[in-house]
Amino acid sequence: MKNIKKDFPLLMAQESSYLDSASTTQKPQHVIDAVVNSYTKYNANPGRGIYDLAEQATKEYEDARKAVAEFIGAQPSEIIFVRGATEGINYIAHGWARDHLKKGDEIVLSQLEHHANLLPWQRIAKETGAELVFIPILQNGMLDMKAAEKLITPNTKLVAITHESNVIGTPVDVTAITKRAHAVGARVLVDACQSVPHKKVDVKKIGCDFLTFSGHKMLGPTGIGVLYIKKDVQDEMQPLSLGGGSVREVAWNSHTLADAPEKFEAGSPSLAQVVGLHAAVNYLQKNAPFDQLKQHEADLTAYAISELEKLPYVKVYGPLEILKKEGHSVTFTVDGMHAHDVAAYLNQQGVQVRAGHFCAQPLARLLGYDAAIRASFYCYTQKKDIEKLVAAIQSIR
Ligand code: ALA
Repeated sequence: MKNIKKDFPLLMAQESSYLDSASTTQKPQHVIDAVVNSYTKYNANPGRGIYDLAEQATKEYEDARKAVAEFIGAQPSEIIFVRGATEGINYIAHGWARDHLKKGDEIVLSQLEHHANLLPWQRIAKETGAELVFIPILQNGMLDMKAAEKLITPNTKLVAITHESNVIGTPVDVTAITKRAHAVGARVLVDACQSVPHKKVDVKKIGCDFLTFSGHKMLGPTGIGVLYIKKDVQDEMQPLSLGGGSVREVAWNSHTLADAPEKFEAGSPSLAQVVGLHAAVNYLQKNAPFDQLKQHEADLTAYAISELEKLPYVKVYGPLEILKKEGHSVTFTVDGMHAHDVAAYLNQQGVQVRAGHFCAQPLARLLGYDAAIRASFYCYTQKKDIEKLVAAIQSIR
């Protein structure tokens, strides 16, 4: 893949190597310009005005919806703009699950889940009397698919599962999970935060009912995410908020809602964020097509893992052989050193990584650490960034 670092002003302005893209990605000038243009060239409230400026704003907003829909194989009316994946998951918890679950029902999650796909379900379970069931992981960090088959039963009403672990990179076969869930009449929500930025995700191929991801992890602005709600399921859903832009007819004591997607998006739309996300999709398709991106990230990951594995005081986590072929991050601990001290040392050496439990505390306990270090890569990451990381870890003792 060609070197595109020059498109990222922040990366060009700093000496340090940014290896925290699983947390959030840097933004290319193309995305920054799109956000600025929305304010300087066509700022108006989409879907409301009939003057030219407002019509342009509406067109830009709806063009973005079409592009995002195409990006994940959905129809535009199935795309709801939310603040991020956390809001997307909470949307399903409160807009769907609360009305559809009761005592004795089960919500199936996995041991890989981020807190965003755990806490909302703990609350829904408490409120409805439903139970949480966890699909375990195997010793190698992969999901135990045999256990999944057994744990998804006629009691299951919802499977809410990650497409890929943000901690150890485990890819999850969500197509197989969906097949099993639908066979017992359960709905499926996929947390695609760590997959959509890195590989082609097609909601129709997966077959899931709901899927969500965040724009800021794929070169887009902060404060924008996508919630896919399959057409057939939309009538089962309540909008999370009610208000302007989401209704057809309102009387003092009643209202009729508009059709999807408007009925799910009350309030003034986030125009700048949405057009920024559209620009990110365009940028990725043009400059980091998924086949090239996957190879680029896998090469970096394989190099990082094999170099770190040579150090006897470093422990690397996750399904390493799989990560070497399709990963984009490496998570490790250094014997006798707290992960925060390692990250602080790396910062001094000009390497920016995340350290901690990565919002997945139960998984951290299961893996046997309080805190680990994660270096994560994206389209702009270069081999010399990884060499710097490796050299710093070699010199840490
Ligand atoms: N979910 C983000 C991460 O894994 C914040 O770092």
